[in-house]
Amino acid sequence: MRQALIAATAFALALATQPVVAQNKPAPAATAKKAAKPAAAAPVEEKDAATVEFEKFRTMMEESNPAELFEAQGEDFWKSIRGPKQVSLATSCDLGLGVGIVKGAYVQMPRYFADAGKVMDAERRIVWCMIEKQGFKEADIMKQPFASGSYTPEPTSLVTYVAANSKDMKFAVPLKDPRVKEVYEIGREVTNHRAGPYDFSCNTCHGADGKRIRMQNLPNIATPKGATTAVMGWPGYRMTGGVMLTQQWRMGDCFRQQRFPQPKYVSDTITSLLTYMTANANGATYKGPGIKR
Ligand code: HEC
Repeated sequence: MRQALIAATAFALALATQPVVAQNKPAPAATAKKAAKPAAAAPVEEKDAATVEFEKFRTMMEESNPAELFEAQGEDFWKSIRGPKQVSLATSCDLGLGVGIVKGAYVQMPRYFADAGKVMDAERRIVWCMIEKQGFKEADIMKQPFASGSYTPEPTSLVTYVAANSKDMKFAVPLKDPRVKEVYEIGREVTNHRAGPYDFSCNTCHGADGKRIRMQNLPNIATPKGATTAVMGWPGYRMTGGVMLTQQWRMGDCFRQQRFPQPKYVSDTITSLLTYMTANANGATYKGPGIKR
């Protein structure tokens, strides 16, 4: 059984990735045989060049970042009187720093919200406000929580607006709050939890330095440096598909990569992961909504 699982995992990875989960460091086997080394190292070199090219392209794109369109849309949603209760978020929603205060709120979430009795990340808090304060129906928001084609959900634009208002500010998740710390510890456990048909955990792909799949560098989310990479540039405009996506989407999609059932949109599980990763990035300066491949 165990053998079969390992074989299945290797096969799935071989299919999904080229090379599988390659290390920048050559494997011991490759160093032992000198002749094998250049062949093993070559694809990594190639990918590094591709990464460099992409970085250049991203810098160019970020000068006129499409995320700004969603930011403007989100600002409009934030300030307008909307929903069955005919109230604006600007006059009813507290993102942790007082009702209506947006500046600096994003980098200080996830945090504990007494009115909800929960630790919440930015997107979850916005959705909570839309439901509780504006009277939107949860079921309607849950129907299609992520962008696809030309459709962008309102919470996506809202979180882009809120995030943009923390640009150039330092991540400061209030870990001193024991309720936040508890959720952080749960997040750490979730990243270690191996299960599913391939026995993957987040750390199978994100638990060591220098891993990559196809063109993507996989950040080691347990370290401050990797966690910073992991939370930077979100929400992000994804060039693949040309849509604006949020961390809630990213987390759901990684559960899919893990062959796990996807957690519910704005669930405790996702908040715990975002608490873990964002707090690991505490002290790093957030560069605002970005661009992703
Ligand atoms: C099978 C491997 C795999 C597993 C398991 C996996 N991921 Fe990922 N993850 C990826 C890949 C591949 C990407 C990059 C995808 C892309 O950019 O298109 C990624 C991207 C990410 C990013 C965004 C990084 C960035 O630079 O923006 C975060 C954060 C992340 N994963 C967290 C997690 C968490 C948390 C888990 C566990 C719930 C997890 N991943 C499980 C493969 C995996």
